[in-house]
Amino acid sequence: MIIPKHIAIIMDGNGRWAKAKGKARTAGHQAGAETLREIVKTAAELGVKVLTVYAFSTENWKRPKMEVDFIMNLFGVYLTRELPEFHTNNVKVRFIGKRDGLSAGVLQKMDKVLQETSKNTGIILNLAINYGGKEEIVQAAQKIASDVVAGKIVVKDIDEKLYENYLYTEGLPMPDLLIRTGGDFRISNFLLWQIAYAEIWTTETYWPDFTSDLLKQAIADFNNRERRFGGLGD
Ligand code: IPE
Ligand code: IPE
Ligand code: MG
Repeated sequence: MIIPKHIAIIMDGNGRWAKAKGKARTAGHQAGAETLREIVKTAAELGVKVLTVYAFSTENWKRPKMEVDFIMNLFGVYLTRELPEFHTNNVKVRFIGKRDGLSAGVLQKMDKVLQETSKNTGIILNLAINYGGKEEIVQAAQKIASDVVAGKIVVKDIDEKLYENYLYTEGLPMPDLLIRTGGDFRISNFLLWQIAYAEIWTTETYWPDFTSDLLKQAIADFNNRERRFGGLGD
């Protein structure tokens, strides 16, 4: 069985999970954080190299302030609480997304976890917080333009490989497998550049009910896909 090097997950369905149980949407986010703990552990055990998870999009600010505040607070709680677990599982944490807009408190906790797990050598957990695929591509264009103006590069240097060095995912392999929970079939502005050739796998299961067995099922199904990358396969 081939284990995908990089798995990306759109962790969707927290609110509907809660609603179905007669609970507040926030209870769904809380339960979702528990699921993430289990999935990180399983992905690490399976030998996945990079796990990128969509935790908060640049569009999620449109939600009621109370829900946004709850999610932001949950990030802080999660990052603090998981730190020992990250060390146990040798997890190196990274973040993708726009720092602008996040509170000083959340940024401080993110920086602490980033720094404290920087020497871990196992799975990279790439947390997408205040992440938008379009925003990522725009900020890359801005930085490239600045570097041209500063004389660090010339226009002719700009190719796909160079561009990728300006994305938040710099240095990481492209996702092989993209999982979306919660039953919708859309990308919702996630990793627009990086998923060019990712295999997509979806489940009706809401994120808080997602399990290690479902992750293994997704990987098993991935093994039955024929990736052709525009060629004819062989
Ligand atoms: C995903 O679950 C978590 C975030 C977007 C922060 P949702 O909160 O989108 O849950 P549904 O899709 O409304 O059920
Ligand atoms: C995608 O879910 C974002 C995250 C999982 C963080 P959304 O719930 O925001 O996506 P849409 O609005 O249904 O497309
Ligand atoms: Mg949703």
